[in-house]
Amino acid sequence: MNLISEFRRFFEEQNHTWVKSAPLVPEGDSSVLFTTAGMQQFKPYYSGHPSPYGNRVISVQKCFRADDLDEVGDTTHLTFFEMLGNFSFQYPHGEESYFKEQAIRMGYEFVAERLGLSIEYVTIFEGDEHTPRDTESERLWQALAEEKRITLPIYGENRDENFWGPTGSEGPCGPTSEIYVDGVEIWNLVFNQYYQYRDGTLEHQEQQGVDTGGGYERILAVVEQVDSVFDTSVFATVMEQIENTFPEMSLEYRRVIADHLRSSLFLSADGVVPSNKEQGYILRRLIRKVLSLAGMEKAHLDDLSAIGETLVGLYEDRYPELRDGWSVYTTHLENEFQTFSKALKEGLKQARKMLKTREDNRLTGEEAFQLSATHGLSPELMRFNGIEFDEEAFEQERERHREISRAGAEQKFGGHGLALDTGELKAEDEEEVKIVTRLHSATHLLNQALRDVLEDEVKQKGSDINVKRTRFDFSFPRKLTEEEKQQVEDRVNMFIQSAHDLHVYELPLEEAKQSGAIYLEHESYPDPVKIHQFGYISKEFCGGPHVRNTSEIGTFKIKKEEAVAQGVRRIRGVVE
Ligand code: SER
Repeated sequence: MNLISEFRRFFEEQNHTWVKSAPLVPEGDSSVLFTTAGMQQFKPYYSGHPSPYGNRVISVQKCFRADDLDEVGDTTHLTFFEMLGNFSFQYPHGEESYFKEQAIRMGYEFVAERLGLSIEYVTIFEGDEHTPRDTESERLWQALAEEKRITLPIYGENRDENFWGPTGSEGPCGPTSEIYVDGVEIWNLVFNQYYQYRDGTLEHQEQQGVDTGGGYERILAVVEQVDSVFDTSVFATVMEQIENTFPEMSLEYRRVIADHLRSSLFLSADGVVPSNKEQGYILRRLIRKVLSLAGMEKAHLDDLSAIGETLVGLYEDRYPELRDGWSVYTTHLENEFQTFSKALKEGLKQARKMLKTREDNRLTGEEAFQLSATHGLSPELMRFNGIEFDEEAFEQERERHREISRAGAEQKFGGHGLALDTGELKAEDEEEVKIVTRLHSATHLLNQALRDVLEDEVKQKGSDINVKRTRFDFSFPRKLTEEEKQQVEDRVNMFIQSAHDLHVYELPLEEAKQSGAIYLEHESYPDPVKIHQFGYISKEFCGGPHVRNTSEIGTFKIKKEEAVAQGVRRIRGVVE
């Protein structure tokens, strides 16, 4: 089955007009760096401007999310991806426009009947002091489930989960309803029924609309029943070619090369040129990362170009700009190689000079980090060149700087460009980064405390952290008693008060699995894998960020314990 053709056919049958993807750099909108969602090119049509395409449109939009850059290498994160979406404008007056009822019906019929996927559950907005519960969507899902004679769990979720927008400082926004398959959110219906002004006031919109988003690679992973986006047919040939070219390279690095080559190609084809600022800076980082993983050897330039050619071949039918921009891209690759080589030479000279004064012949984490930040002398390149450094301290230093730069970038580019959003952790600014970091460390302690109190039956099923709370799902057959909840909470606080230091280190994957560290059974991890350990109490496979000592967490409180599915419980906790 070709997912994109099925998508197009299904919605064209329902009278939607196909609109081409907008470029990755939004035209005439300097408040955002990149196109990150399908609705961006349609924004004016939600607030009364007539749409030249009619009121029912679909697109497959090229998207780039720089906030996921450091996370690439696991099973789900990508910097570039495509988003499927159907959109409706000017409801109820516009000709052929639709709202919740048809959006929900079409979403269901496409996912369940056309793609044949088994929907696990759906979510709706549960309401808060500003906006009422979306009872309309709830009723519509119930009626649809009855009509289709299926059991469909419907869960209410809060504003963080099920309310979208506005993008930037004001604009259309509204409650969402999401479809989940195999624990993955694959279809997000946004009902734009409000307009939010700069002062935060919400006004009911005269003209309402629908904005749907479904990540193409993510849906494909579910359709093809594979464990990661890199195992889908989108990446199959490229991943194989990368493996043949770099047989010694870890899976994590091979994924980074696949992702970064693809996104740098698309950015370059949309006119971005490597530089030291904004979009150009992001492109430079992507290309240099690839060069660095390939060992900065001139011989590998041809190999990387060959992998790039494969990507162009895969996409040129749908995106001819890739072929048109191919020679410009190879020039960027060549130029970056030249300038990066010069910077590195200088970096290596300095590193060797520093090492002369060291008895242990090893750089400190901070020195190594400085060399990497100023001369691009990355850990991989230090290893290639035989420069020893304190790897653990380097990682900690890098995490610290990542948090700062993420928060800084977010301030600079506003709400919809760059933020800390790892999938698990979400934060909007530096203050929020601090809070979610404490919550993240508390979540590791909670994971351990649950195992201690409830014994080993507990397995982590998911976690989601934002500035207000941590939400942790785990397998357990029944409701926790008041006493058990108290014991878990007390145990987490005892861990916190014992003031354990954080240790970060890497182990070969098999060894790590035997080490007693907690990890998710069905997740595929890089080899070697990074472990975050607090003293002797908690040890988990994780990418951070974390507090440096548990005492920084504060006091942990369990706010709610509830069921999310058969045999799966959910705890919401806060730190004070
Ligand atoms: N704007 C929403 C999203 O990006 C739905 O398209 O998820």
